[in-house]
Amino acid sequence: MSEAMSAEFDTVAEWTAEVARDLGPEFFIPAGCRGSGNPAALDWLVDELELGQGESLLDCGAGVGGPAAFAEQRRAVTPVLVDPEGGACRAARSLFGFPATRASASQLPFGDAVFDAAWSLGVLCTMPDQAGLLAELRRVTRAPGRLGLVVFLAEAELSPQDQPEGNHFPTEESLQQLLSAAELTVVRRRRTADLPEIPAEWQSKVDAVEHALRRRHGHEEAWRLSEEQSDEMGRLLGDGRVTGHVLSLRHG
Ligand SMILES: C[S@@+](CC[C@H](N)C(=O)[O-])C[C@H]1O[C@@H](n2cnc3c(N)ncnc32)[C@H](O)[C@@H]1O
Repeated sequence: MSEAMSAEFDTVAEWTAEVARDLGPEFFIPAGCRGSGNPAALDWLVDELELGQGESLLDCGAGVGGPAAFAEQRRAVTPVLVDPEGGACRAARSLFGFPATRASASQLPFGDAVFDAAWSLGVLCTMPDQAGLLAELRRVTRAPGRLGLVVFLAEAELSPQDQPEGNHFPTEESLQQLLSAAELTVVRRRRTADLPEIPAEWQSKVDAVEHALRRRHGHEEAWRLSEEQSDEMGRLLGDGRVTGHVLSLRHG
């Protein structure tokens, strides 16, 4: 993983959990949602995957664990988290108490068909082995394979210098090839831009966490690198060169 990605997904993830702990429990979930920032996307996925009480949900590339906690709060699922970054795993354990294993999505440390459902939110474009992520999500879920993705797609191929360091945004065409190679079918999908806006109450908590992070760590290199990454992502989304999509998938 690049230095900038480690700053964002390891160091800043752990700082985020520290800040959220200091601010209070009502800040944990908004602070812990770092890729799938809009609760409307999570609500849509929770419904689409028909998550039920007591079912196991693998969150692959879980980061600080906010989305898994959101699903637990809504449907009393039992989340299991995976992320290659130690700081992210520690952050998720400390805020939510979920089991979080350090591993790559392309080599999941689980047997076949052990989860009722799985999702991977804002992760695909951060991985070189995108086919591996999809094959592994398919392998570890029981039929019919209730899978959710948040993906960011490039409208046209982007050169490496035009994307945040370490990211590889697929195009719609390359995503379709990846899904078909993994034998996954899209049941329904939405553009993130078409979802309801982030509620003001949620956004104010995200802003408070951001403010405290900047105050505490604004002078540090990891913060600068992480900010550069998210600014670049913001520009790509802002001018439409990259668009966000939420997908509900099944095996087959
Ligand atoms: C944009 S963040 C999203 C975090 C979380 N899914 C969320 O929505 O809040 C991307 C996450 O993918 C993780 N990641 C990067 N490479 C990965 C890999 N090979 N396997 C699993 N996760 C990976 C990063 O460590 C990071 O936590």
